[in-house]
Amino acid sequence: MAQLSLSILSADFSALGETLKTAEAGGVDFIHMDVMDGRFVPNISFGPAVIGSLAGKTGLPFDVHLMVEEPGDAIERYVTANTEYVVVHCEACRHLDRVLRSIKSLGVKCGVALNPATHPAVLDYVLDYVDQILVMSVNPGFGGQSFIRGVLDKIKMYDAMRTEMDLRYKISVDGGVNLENLPDVVGAGADMLVVGSAALNSPDPLASLRSFREVADACTK
Ligand code: DX5
Ligand code: ZN
Repeated sequence: MAQLSLSILSADFSALGETLKTAEAGGVDFIHMDVMDGRFVPNISFGPAVIGSLAGKTGLPFDVHLMVEEPGDAIERYVTANTEYVVVHCEACRHLDRVLRSIKSLGVKCGVALNPATHPAVLDYVLDYVDQILVMSVNPGFGGQSFIRGVLDKIKMYDAMRTEMDLRYKISVDGGVNLENLPDVVGAGADMLVVGSAALNSPDPLASLRSFREVADACTK
């Protein structure tokens, strides 16, 4: 069953508690926390203090997406009672293997994100132990961007490799996912879909999330 991970980047930051309730009622599986440092990406969002304040306020697990330079220095700050995944960018880590193993040593699952122009082969030497591959379908830094359809081939490639090599990483797709392209994304092999502005900027976010749930369930292999 394709899982939904709601990005709160497009939420009203003065009412994040309400966003969590909408996410729960809408049937999402994860809360996607987009951490941005203004260096790796040209935007600053929120950090450990906000994530810490949301921990314990929902039963939903957190899928923390670190868009920060050299994230290895502060991984433990993102590990909360709700944190299930900590995802770092391969482009932001001088020593990716060391960072991924340090995430696992903290008892949470590790993920690695790759930007649209990054070649999938960069992950060859971590595929056998990484828990999540986050395929960026926009250039990171902002919500509300358009889906880059060229990444569908990358998703298909990782799905095929997973089968061929009997690996178990989850394939997540992040950026510009909407109800129209969702079937293509799931059909390419994605297991997890990050949804942000398409739901939260709609007139009725709860109804929109329920539609995402329905469409995701309908098109899951
Ligand atoms: C972009 C973030 C995404 C984004 C998704 O850098 O990583 O998670 O917030 O939002 P939408 O769905 O609006 O593209
Ligand atoms: Zn993200």
